[in-house]
Amino acid sequence: MGPLVATACACLLFGCDAIPQQGPVNFSGNPERGVALIKQYGCGSCHLIPKIAEATGNVGPPLLHIGTRTYIAGFISNSPENMSLWLQDPQKALPGNAMPWMGITPQDSRDITAFLYTLK
Ligand code: HEC
Repeated sequence: MGPLVATACACLLFGCDAIPQQGPVNFSGNPERGVALIKQYGCGSCHLIPKIAEATGNVGPPLLHIGTRTYIAGFISNSPENMSLWLQDPQKALPGNAMPWMGITPQDSRDITAFLYTLK
């Protein structure tokens, strides 16, 4: 068994944390559309969001520097994939937290994430 095969097996068994990540794979979203969606879904009624003037809510945390934050909601490792899942179903991601399910589709969640990741 060559080293590549061994690595692949270890990956399947233990996950690939040991292998350096090259950044988001298969992740793409449209940040301009994300802005429109954030307005449409009314995220700003609960969050202060930089770059979106009307988003001044104070129910949830301000989304300052969310693109470089280590954790989502203090629990979930912040990656584009995890952010998309969070947006699609916050209650599944962290049961009992105060952010509601809003019926956000996978594509919409990717576009919103692309915008949130511009908040460095
Ligand atoms: C009804 C209020 C409400 C709405 C609407 C809402 N959120 Fe939230 N959101 C929250 C609360 C409360 C939390 C904190 C959850 C926690 O930390 O347990 C949160 C957490 C988050 C977080 C993680 C923040 C952090 O500091 O880790 C992100 C990102 C986020 N929301 C984005 C959005 C986006 C984008 C929308 C619109 C699609 C949205 N939220 C709509 C209430 C809301």
